Amino acid sequence: MEGCHHQSSRLLMMGILFLAVIFPSSSSPTTRRFQFNVQWKKVTRLCHTKPLLTVNGKYPGPTIAVHEGDNVEVKVTNLIATNTTIHWHGIRQLRTGWADGPAYVTQCPIRGGQSYTYKFSVVDHRGTLLWHAHYSWQRVSVYGAIIIYPRMPYPFKAPIQDEVPIIFGEWWNDDTEEVEREMMRTGDGPKISEAYTINGMPGPLYPCSNKDTFIQNVVPGKTYLLRIINAALNAELFFAIANHTLTVVEIDGLYTKPFTTTAIMIAPGQTTNVLLTADQVPDSSAMFPMAANNYVTSIFPFDNSTTMGFLLYKTITTPRAKPLNRPAVYSLSSLYNLPQMKDTAFATAFSSKLRSLASAQYPCNVPKTIDKRIVTTISLNLQDCPANQTCKGYNGKRFFASMNNQSFIRPFESILEGHYKNLTHHLFSSDFPEKPPTTFDYTGVNPFTSNMNTQFGTKLLVVPYGSSLEIVMQGTSFLSVENHPIHFHGHNFFIVGRGFGNFDVNKDPQNYNLVDPPERNTVAVPTGGWAAIRFKADNPGVWFIHCHLEEHTSWGLAMGLVVQNGPNPSQCLLPPPADLPSC
Ligand code: C2O
Ligand code: CU
Repeated sequence: MEGCHHQSSRLLMMGILFLAVIFPSSSSPTTRRFQFNVQWKKVTRLCHTKPLLTVNGKYPGPTIAVHEGDNVEVKVTNLIATNTTIHWHGIRQLRTGWADGPAYVTQCPIRGGQSYTYKFSVVDHRGTLLWHAHYSWQRVSVYGAIIIYPRMPYPFKAPIQDEVPIIFGEWWNDDTEEVEREMMRTGDGPKISEAYTINGMPGPLYPCSNKDTFIQNVVPGKTYLLRIINAALNAELFFAIANHTLTVVEIDGLYTKPFTTTAIMIAPGQTTNVLLTADQVPDSSAMFPMAANNYVTSIFPFDNSTTMGFLLYKTITTPRAKPLNRPAVYSLSSLYNLPQMKDTAFATAFSSKLRSLASAQYPCNVPKTIDKRIVTTISLNLQDCPANQTCKGYNGKRFFASMNNQSFIRPFESILEGHYKNLTHHLFSSDFPEKPPTTFDYTGVNPFTSNMNTQFGTKLLVVPYGSSLEIVMQGTSFLSVENHPIHFHGHNFFIVGRGFGNFDVNKDPQNYNLVDPPERNTVAVPTGGWAAIRFKADNPGVWFIHCHLEEHTSWGLAMGLVVQNGPNPSQCLLPPPADLPSC
């Protein structure tokens, strides 16, 4: 560590000089600065007015638009009484883990009245990502788009008329920090949301929401780049636009081989860029509905409502259309492009069409060989109710979730700080199990009777710098099989294999795609199945890995990955910034 600090600043200087030489001044790195004030704002949706947590009073929050290679500085000022943090989802934070954001993993929260400036750069990064709060369930309304404009032209041909962020969210009439507290207190599942939203708008299928409808104007014949983001808390979503096809060109800020589809499946934390050509002939309304609803894989209660917006074709004959007077026309039957809510066959077919571009300019650097394979269950658990408590989960027990039967506890301290300062610690340990504690028919056991009690702790997986890792995530049928969107901080990864049932170490690796597997930061692990990912652990720090269904993170479906410093100073975690919050 010592060697790391001293040399890193000298090397950084040399790096800056080097960059200044190879880039002409017009394209030398620019620092883009943003101010985020976390504050309450009264917002009305579904005939219900409530204080909503926002950034700068905006819902959804402001867009962070930068250029590839930029340095970014976001000063976050907490103007509320409770803690907060912000996470830049999909930004790798190369050596800058201090700016990653998950509370008690890479930082102590920003307390009321305090500020913290997140500083990072977007080198070798482009496309659509998102930012969101990473404290309790604040991200329900504290979220927004990150757009990184590329230095090189897009690798797809169409001239783009306009770029349109489409951000899905979820709305509760109640305060979601309270929803989480209640769930953890009783052991029951959380209260489900009242609505889904497109850019903060529920649309005409909800009460009092005609005026809260997202409408996108389009010019006939023109092509649009939709930057689609799923910022919902607990729902994987299907999305489609009536009559139109979508051409997928990017996922999680990484280009894909283009393909056309009538709908997409998008999990929380994922982003998908699609091209949309306004090539249909509208009726006299000049409108086509777009809609999103839940991709349902578990047996638990869920929000089965549908958010709807519209494309409004600009035509000579049609005056400004008035969708708001005629929402009844847009029944769900006009949305024949939207899959049925339980259409796992569609979700599977869609996922298997995703491929890395794997071109000379955008090569696919999937590790062909690995240093280590980790197999971990991702599971719900039905826990015995502690004596002298009442639990409201199934059968008088309570719900938890786990990886390799470990429910991850975030300590009330920063794990990254503890790691950096080399503290021998009672708060966490380096012994995350590298395989399931017992072998069983993971996806075939009785959901209720075979359940295991989970264990609680803060066990980290520690790997040397530069390790090529394979992590197999194995779903289980405890309580219910379910599609889990697993998100990695600090690294992108390649999805080399997926399947239903139990992963077979002797057979399944033979069918891996090591040529053009999709690269991303969040993988939707098939319901009742598994997914295998590979990546090179080349970013020193402590990285949160977790299910991006917020209820499952609360129940402990998470782990921490520690990537140690490498031998070269440029492979070391940078020192913490001076304004890093303390606990
Ligand atoms: Cu998008 Cu740890 O989160
Ligand atoms: Cu999950």
